[in-house]
Amino acid sequence: MMDNRPIGVFDSGLGGLTVLKEIKKLLPRESLIYFGDNGRTPYGTKSKETVLKYTHQDVSFLLSKNVKLLVVACNTMSALALPELRSSIHVPVLEVIEPGSRAALKKTKSGRIGIIATSGTISSGVYSKAIRSMAPDVKIYTKACPLFVNLVEEGWWNNEITEMVAVEYLKELKKENIDTLVLGCTHYPLLTDTIRKVLGDDVVQVSSAEELSIALKELLNEHDLLTGQGEAHYQYYTSDSVEKFKELGKLILGEEILNVERVDLDGNL
Ligand code: DGL
Repeated sequence: MMDNRPIGVFDSGLGGLTVLKEIKKLLPRESLIYFGDNGRTPYGTKSKETVLKYTHQDVSFLLSKNVKLLVVACNTMSALALPELRSSIHVPVLEVIEPGSRAALKKTKSGRIGIIATSGTISSGVYSKAIRSMAPDVKIYTKACPLFVNLVEEGWWNNEITEMVAVEYLKELKKENIDTLVLGCTHYPLLTDTIRKVLGDDVVQVSSAEELSIALKELLNEHDLLTGQGEAHYQYYTSDSVEKFKELGKLILGEEILNVERVDLDGNL
């Protein structure tokens, strides 16, 4: 049995495109629908109730597009909303915390791991919990870096101001002698160069994208959901400017983004 329906991938904004890129690479035949809630980003500084409400709307929107599987390409939603919503979603769902944790444990040699993420994700404690459940003896150091999301959404991935912000956010982690840093927010891989300037080459930066794509392939196989014949189709939705999405999305994916439509999940287009 084959299933040609698309996979739904979503985030509060552009960050999830770092995950979509990896999925496209590993599963080039799968059609994908992406939703970025750029109009309401960031989620990471908002209350759990708000994140739950937004996530619920994002999920309903993608389910209305007849997706066969959902990828929550956002750590904040994975941490704060998914545990409560998962049982009401009738398609398989993949999140990013577990793959990110696994990626870190594969890389660390010293067992000293740093985690950076949004305030919501850090205060939920889910990363520390996930990593400790797999390796109880590792040392974990966390830091919330909320401004990073806005800097990425602004396209300021590599400039002096972003570097100054990174120096301030990362100064405590720098002292802890970590050998691995989890980029626990899907926006952060766009700041890899800036973070490297601050922490140096010896700290390995890991994100969930690659591990998640491998898990996705397995899950599609397991559920008999792999695509059959035909060409993959990519459709993108944003709740803010289509032009800005295209412009920055192109820089993230390294190719022109053609099919972008604006949607407003509050129903006030
Ligand atoms: N990219 C998201 C994450 O992985 C959310 C960023 C935000 O909206 O604050 O957490």
